[in-house]
Amino acid sequence: MIPDDLRARLQRHGQAHLQTALEQLAEPEHAKLLRELERIDLAELQSLHARRTQKDALPPRERIEPLPYPTIEEDAGEAFIDVGEDAFDAGKVAFLIVAGGQGTRLGCNDPKGMFPIGPISKKPLFQIHAEKVLALNRRYIARFPLLVMTSPATDATTRLFFKRRNFYRLPPQDVWFFCQGTMPAVDLESGRMLLEAPDRPCLSPNGHGGTIIGLRDSGILNRLDERGIRTIYYFQVDNPLVNLADALFVGRHHLANAEVSSKVLPKTGPKEKVGNFLLVDGRCSMIEYSDLPDDWANERDEAGQLKFWAGNPAIHLFDVEFLRKITAEADRLPWHLARKKVPYLDEAGQLVQPETENALKFERFIFDILTQAERWTVLATPRDDEFAPVKNKDGVDSPATAQAMMIAQATRWLHQAGVEVADGVKVEISPLFALDAEDVMDKLRKATTITRDTYFK
Ligand code: UD1
Repeated sequence: MIPDDLRARLQRHGQAHLQTALEQLAEPEHAKLLRELERIDLAELQSLHARRTQKDALPPRERIEPLPYPTIEEDAGEAFIDVGEDAFDAGKVAFLIVAGGQGTRLGCNDPKGMFPIGPISKKPLFQIHAEKVLALNRRYIARFPLLVMTSPATDATTRLFFKRRNFYRLPPQDVWFFCQGTMPAVDLESGRMLLEAPDRPCLSPNGHGGTIIGLRDSGILNRLDERGIRTIYYFQVDNPLVNLADALFVGRHHLANAEVSSKVLPKTGPKEKVGNFLLVDGRCSMIEYSDLPDDWANERDEAGQLKFWAGNPAIHLFDVEFLRKITAEADRLPWHLARKKVPYLDEAGQLVQPETENALKFERFIFDILTQAERWTVLATPRDDEFAPVKNKDGVDSPATAQAMMIAQATRWLHQAGVEVADGVKVEISPLFALDAEDVMDKLRKATTITRDTYFK
């Protein structure tokens, strides 16, 4: 039985083919598909499909200004660090990894966080992040929750992965998983929802903007309040170099009473594949690389520097109260449309593997909340110390480039402690050995040269 109002909605919003699909199903599959369809906003899907030929509307250029390069007065740094350390001491920070993505571009369908990135240790990305949090627990004698956002495709595997590895020695009750929502994929031409099985629409993760609703619906915002946690330290699973111990970043955010703070990174070129920080009507905003028009991307100032210089390493601090405010209006965050190849069942029930883009997928982006912050700070960060994205199997932003950066950072830290590393020798430093160069200096005092591959654990 198809309820009358669902039947009417399917017809009104161009999804009448799903009536046939429902009629062909016996129980329990019929009820299953019915449940899925009931929770989908068909009117929204139809209006999103109608936008398929429009580019994401950009504000006019005259409302946009480049982000001024953020500088910190020389004597302010110490005060920021003190406040940041107080926040860590008081356990007022939680860490959040967005890990809904799979390693598809790396050639595997496991959650990306399982990718063995350690250059010598082969530790997975998840372990490197979890051990940074464990090292902070030890440094501050505190217990920082680690929040892990999964997607339906990664949720069960990720939870099991952590459980089997004893949560990398974090207290299991401090690792909080939550699963982001999904959006249906629709046929590019007709807007009809695609099915991946007779009783299952093709659903894909709703983008890292899904963090906001996920935090609310999982009850995590309330749990954070109960623990007196004021700040979420947000980062992406694909960046093994992220610095989670940055007391200056946290202190500056707290002293400014900021709602959002972000790390920014000078871009390597006009079209580097990172988001672009800029100001829209004076507010901090982001335009994704794929949306930044070429002529804007190539604009230069009198000194010949890129005007839109500020890249996005996707490292943010969010004030928990601010997120609560945003969740009330989270449904107003824009959807971004992407053309993708999505396998689907045709009318004869055969699985089709399309050779060209056949579908539209819809995602929300976390950084669309930036413009809603009245108080915000940005902090420039050196790429070498904080951004080694693992995106592609080979070439740029690949495991090989990320590992080379991890080795180079370890070599620099050792050098600062008076330890030389012979040419061609690989070194890796576990987060449990050192979170920064100072930690290395505290541990290694002997001037020496390392002549064979060494893992400091
Ligand atoms: C992303 C950012 C870009 C930034 C770059 C830095 C977007 C649209 N762009 O690009 O501004 O400069 O990272 O590396 O994000 N994820 C989820 N759920 C989702 C989608 C993504 O958890 O539904 C997670 C992924 O697991 C990953 C991160 O978000 O950790 C980024 O996703 P990805 O698709 O790799 O974004 P990029 O296009 O590389």
